[in-house]
Amino acid sequence: SLPLSEAWSQLSSDFQNLSTSSRGLLALAVFLGTPVVAIAFNVLWQLVAPRRRSDPPLVFYWLPFIGSAIAYGTDPIKFFFTCREKYGEVFTFVMFGRRITVALGPRGNNFILGGKSIVFNAEDAYSHFTTPVFGKDVVYDVPNDVFMEQKRFVKVGLSQDNFRAYIGMIEEEVEEFLKHDPSFAVYQDKDSNEWGSFDAASALGEITILTASRTLQGKEVRANLDKSFSKLYNDLDSGFTPLNFLFPKFPLPNNRRRDRAHKKMSKFYADIIKKRREGGSQHEYDMIEALMHQSYRNGKPLRDHEIAHMMITLLMAGQHTSASTGSWVVLHIAANPDIAEALYQEQVKYFGTPDGKLRPMTYEELRALPLMDSVIRETLRMHPPIHSIMRGVRNDVVIPPTLSAPSEDTTYVVPKGHWVLASPLISQIDPTVWRDSFKWDPYRWNDPEGVAAKAYAVYTDETGEKVDYGFGAVSKGTESPYQPFGAGRHRCIGEQFAYLQLGTIVTTLIRRLELRIDSVPEHNYHTMIVTPKTPRSISYRRRRI
Ligand code: HEM
Repeated sequence: SLPLSEAWSQLSSDFQNLSTSSRGLLALAVFLGTPVVAIAFNVLWQLVAPRRRSDPPLVFYWLPFIGSAIAYGTDPIKFFFTCREKYGEVFTFVMFGRRITVALGPRGNNFILGGKSIVFNAEDAYSHFTTPVFGKDVVYDVPNDVFMEQKRFVKVGLSQDNFRAYIGMIEEEVEEFLKHDPSFAVYQDKDSNEWGSFDAASALGEITILTASRTLQGKEVRANLDKSFSKLYNDLDSGFTPLNFLFPKFPLPNNRRRDRAHKKMSKFYADIIKKRREGGSQHEYDMIEALMHQSYRNGKPLRDHEIAHMMITLLMAGQHTSASTGSWVVLHIAANPDIAEALYQEQVKYFGTPDGKLRPMTYEELRALPLMDSVIRETLRMHPPIHSIMRGVRNDVVIPPTLSAPSEDTTYVVPKGHWVLASPLISQIDPTVWRDSFKWDPYRWNDPEGVAAKAYAVYTDETGEKVDYGFGAVSKGTESPYQPFGAGRHRCIGEQFAYLQLGTIVTTLIRRLELRIDSVPEHNYHTMIVTPKTPRSISYRRRRI
């Protein structure tokens, strides 16, 4: 046998003696061969490696490490429905080396969203991604019970009193936007009967940030929106992408921009708080004001940087979710002129004045509009902005056999270290639960005996069980097939605000514009929050009253 060095020099001289084309072919074979070997090994491993009977079924995947990331990331609905057909309600898939166990359907949602935070933990799944954006000492950077207290503080700012004050402000902001935004030039010409067009997502994105800052965020933020604040927001937002979520340690170029923006924004809020404290607090109907008067159970008041970071959290949590929902609402209304007309007639019925005008609404009146409410509910059923809710698994957890089991005498166990994933989206469009589940039909919410009404009753306070997770009694709602705002201890606290904001924005648009689009675009799942794919341009015309 040759010594290793000799074998190597023999090999390299053989290689040198090959013709250029043969050398090229050999290099190509090695280059292509390595992944082929890796793929073959990975496939073989899945077929022959011994598995525990308690392991949930593993979704077959070709590419090592990458796993099912492409199928899941491109079209999670198709991916989940296909997997359910093959493996049942519970299965595990691989995404960039991480093992994620999915539990589908209302029982799956209940299992995950109703789980205790000591086993299914939100911080473990989200903090790497959210803390650089939101900041230290809040939300997923603190123990769960502290965050629950922080949610209680925010709820104080989301009071009915504040909402009553907001409705007129939101209406005014939308009107101003229509009067000045270049996409609404045709509207601005009062005599024109022409059709113009606007991009649904851009317009609703701008209207959402304008209205949220005028109301919840407060006048200092609103005053700075036209200046430095928008740039800071965009830079911060650039660090809130699926790439950041998947590869927290990867030195992405946008991370530096994100970190700089976070520092500046944190200081921006801290300065507002300082000024307000120095100037003596005048009564303001905004969140900063509410947070400045809150203390933890141990008597310690919220520190200024915590208030600042909670304000950033609320800005980020509310912006894309509401903007995307608003875009889908407006797109569906534009694609369904009969419903647009019915919404307009609802306005005339409730707010028409003898001189043929429409008077302003109060908060209570807005929330009692049956069709407007159904339109928002139905849009959230088909397009919940968050399609996957994740938790880190801190201890092995037995999956209830009523949800899924390998046999009568064995149970599945989600192992510690996995992530679990609930997808309310799937139960919201499941054809075995909802009639014509892929059809946007707001009237389904009017049938008091229908699935929709029952699902809603369980989700809200009507028949649902109430639980206090530390931020006031909320309906548990974990077993409802309708959960666009999540459920359990991490349930959204912005729900009522979102209904107010969306309802007022859409009402103001409906009162002033006729809208048209040929068809509603497909979903784009490549953004963190599901958005409509382009083209999503809506034609509009000034309504003649
Ligand atoms: C949580 C959806 C608007 C603040 C959530 C969750 C969902 C959701 C699904 C649960 C996440 C999880 O369990 O991991 C929505 C939708 C919105 C909306 C569909 C609009 C249509 C807002 C607004 C705010 C807000 C306007 C702020 C004013 C929050 C907060 C949480 C949350 C603070 C708590 C997170 C936790 O406890 O872990 N939201 N949201 N959201 N949302 Fe919203």
